[in-house]
Amino acid sequence: MTATNLTLVRIAEIVGADNLLVGDAVSERFVHIWKTHIPLAAVAVVTPTSVEQVSAVMRYCHQTGLSVVVHGGLTNMVGSTETSGIELVISMEKMNRILELDVNSKTAFVEAGVILEHLQEEVKKVGLMFPVTFGAKGSAQVGGMIATNAGGLRVFRYGMTRQWVLGLEVVMSDGTVISGLKKLVKDNSGLDLKQLFIGSEGVLGIITRAVLRLSPASGGRHTAFVALEDFGQVLVFLRSMELTLGGALTAFELIWKDTYQRMCGVLKGGGIPLAFGYPLYVLLEISTSTGGTSPNLLEQLLEKYLEEGIVLDAAVASSESEQNRFWRIREDVDHLVSQCTFDQHFDVSLPIADIGDYVDGIRRNLDAEPGVDTYFVYGHMADGNIHVVVSKKYDSVDLIERVNNLIYSPLTNYGGSISAEHGIGTHKKAYLPYCRSKEELDLMRRLKGALDPKGILNPGKII
Ligand code: MLT
Ligand code: ZN
Repeated sequence: MTATNLTLVRIAEIVGADNLLVGDAVSERFVHIWKTHIPLAAVAVVTPTSVEQVSAVMRYCHQTGLSVVVHGGLTNMVGSTETSGIELVISMEKMNRILELDVNSKTAFVEAGVILEHLQEEVKKVGLMFPVTFGAKGSAQVGGMIATNAGGLRVFRYGMTRQWVLGLEVVMSDGTVISGLKKLVKDNSGLDLKQLFIGSEGVLGIITRAVLRLSPASGGRHTAFVALEDFGQVLVFLRSMELTLGGALTAFELIWKDTYQRMCGVLKGGGIPLAFGYPLYVLLEISTSTGGTSPNLLEQLLEKYLEEGIVLDAAVASSESEQNRFWRIREDVDHLVSQCTFDQHFDVSLPIADIGDYVDGIRRNLDAEPGVDTYFVYGHMADGNIHVVVSKKYDSVDLIERVNNLIYSPLTNYGGSISAEHGIGTHKKAYLPYCRSKEELDLMRRLKGALDPKGILNPGKII
């Protein structure tokens, strides 16, 4: 019997034959939902159904030195779920139950494989809300969201995933289960260990279950598209809206001119909110707990900004289906990606006031790079988080590096970060020194060495 066969026999004993995929069943899979044409390369895929199975698999992997890559919804943007062929993939798809919704404590106890959109729908039925949301919500799993500390469309009002995790259960590289599944909002009893794993991209432990904090459901949600002249006006508009609406302003997404036009292509001509050609567009959302802010109030407010010349044009969604249509323009990043070749995705953050200047600079850089075909700029402006999708004319390592440097090198001057929300994975690893010190990187390596001494958890990612 070969070593691989022995491995498969042992793993099948642990998880059961139904939860072990080999051969074609592996290569029919992939590492990212945008790359379904590239077969997954892995020793095997296991689909555990319990934390005990994950723990036993890890005990075996630790004994034998077999590396592991965890797969969730496969929507990660930085290569965190990539494999090289010698790893075992642990897919969390069967650990997909919402184990409890506690309306009084306002918590959800979930397995890692629960899909975000499913959680949002179930929580809504009991009058609550899980506020973290983003375009990939129909595929992304809670475990992956926690492992990447996902951000998304409402961060400036509600925070990142980290703010919504109360308790966590994690399987360590040697199979030890660290169980901290408490419903406590406040717990200063020593080090807050769960924070080590939130945003760790699977390099320190495997998230199996979580207790999530929920929020009371919002009463009303109103959405508008607004056109503005320049970035200075966007800043004035944002500050004024925040002063007027306070916590009711729940989304503020900025989209540059050409990107808006391309994004609107997803509607196939029907119902485009605002004419093309304005320099900048903002998609904003207002949510209230009482349902008190009406679309009329939003209209009145925007009329005032129109009269004052702060905004150039505005359209308020008048029905839920129109709201969904407005959001589809921004959320359907797949539509942009389908128009790109050899695309590179960026997710930088910097102080809000510097965004206009930074984007003007990178646009000049990208326009001057002959290998760049086109690019799209948009982002969660109120979080200081800008996304750039660059489409290139050809594929080459040199060109990839040149484009990376065009986007990343100016960030140092602004005290920015090369990743606001997508993480580091393999794609951004070489650029970490742009925003993290040598001492910080050393500490990350020491933590990795302490928690995963054999280096078997998601090898090659982050550090
Ligand atoms: C988003 O904001 O839609 C996601 O972070 C994906 C992206 O835009 O790159
Ligand atoms: Zn984003």
